[in-house]
Amino acid sequence: MNTSDILTIAVVVLLPAAALWFIFIARTRTKDPAARLGIPKALRPGQPDEILEGRRLERIMIYGVLSTLALAAFIPAYWLPETDRQDQFQEHQDETSIERGFQVYGQPPDLEEAEAGGPADFKEAESKIALGQNCAQCHGPANEDTDVETWASGGQAANGYIDPVTGDEVAYVAPPLNNVFTRWDEEVIRFTIERGRPGTPMPAWGTEYGGSMTEQMVDDVIAFLGTLPGNKEAPPGISEECGNPEPFDLACGEEIFTARCAVCHGAEGQGKDETGVEAEWHQGAALWKGKVEHLTTAQHLFTVINGRRFAFMPPFGDAPEQGIPSNPYPLTMQQIRAVVNYERSL
Ligand code: HEC
Ligand code: HEC
Repeated sequence: MNTSDILTIAVVVLLPAAALWFIFIARTRTKDPAARLGIPKALRPGQPDEILEGRRLERIMIYGVLSTLALAAFIPAYWLPETDRQDQFQEHQDETSIERGFQVYGQPPDLEEAEAGGPADFKEAESKIALGQNCAQCHGPANEDTDVETWASGGQAANGYIDPVTGDEVAYVAPPLNNVFTRWDEEVIRFTIERGRPGTPMPAWGTEYGGSMTEQMVDDVIAFLGTLPGNKEAPPGISEECGNPEPFDLACGEEIFTARCAVCHGAEGQGKDETGVEAEWHQGAALWKGKVEHLTTAQHLFTVINGRRFAFMPPFGDAPEQGIPSNPYPLTMQQIRAVVNYERSL
């Protein structure tokens, strides 16, 4: 509480209370000898009915009516700006949530350094230490010294990754999060953060799944990511001509592939190239350029329609409920045929 709050309380509450108290004392200090002698009121002679039921009663009734009117005026006067107050409160909540989300995303300062700086520095570092989960070490830094456009623009998963096939440690690209909303909706993003992506370096963060982030921290980091400029853009569009393409319309197949699949499978569906070198974008070890013939067309269609539940290949068609969030940007059956035939032509 600051000085102006204290002053306001004094003016609004304490001063009128003191004034009323003073009036009350002044008026009850009576010159009545019976009162001075300390004779209790009940033992003094009462006032006659003419006085009790006359102007005195009227006065009391007028006070009653006036205070009822005052109350009747006060309630709507308080109620009318209430939505404004609630909106302001919500706005304030949203702002603090984004601020906390920024701290969750960032690298927490070193505890010893913060302590060495004295109490004032420590106080400033405190919430960063409590909240910071260091998403930045994999997904790219975000800090006040750099341009917002560059925040969370992807990076290399820290500590490498053991390729389950070769047993070698390989570099694994962590995707940019400053455009993640053009790939997924909030539900999928929350799902990914809370549960991680098993089989990739992305750990589970939700406390329910053994991680270190409370529900509020997950909300906060999502709110923060939502403020990054790239996340306000629309998902890559598919032109109207390709809304309902012929099965062998390879131009549409390519357009759909670029818009919806390239982000994981690489611009040319390269995944991993023949030499085993990691693709630049290496989401969930998706690898199949030129090797997709091992699937029949029916299996290929089946994969794209249903996705791969445990490898985080999202379902693009009308797939049965799988206990995972549905794809926010699904495809029509005609689009799926076109993209599958395009892939088989690579
Ligand atoms: C979020 C990332 C992601 C997106 C987007 C994505 N895929 Fe996949 N896809 C994967 C992963 C991961 C696998 C590997 C699954 C596995 O290991 O079994 C995969 C596997 C596949 C396979 C099977 C490959 C094989 O050899 O068995 C096909 C076919 C495929 N994807 C097609 C598509 C098409 C078509 C699209 C776009 C409409 C698409 N994918 C979009 C992640 C993605
Ligand atoms: C140790 C490295 C690492 C850390 C730390 C990490 N991530 Fe990830 N994250 C990854 C990798 C790698 C992927 C891609 C996984 C894949 O291949 O599907 C990923 C994927 C994601 C995705 C899905 C992106 C997409 O386009 O599909 C989101 C969202 C995400 N991470 C959020 C976070 C948040 C929020 C934090 C901090 C609380 C965090 N990550 C911390 C490595 C990391």
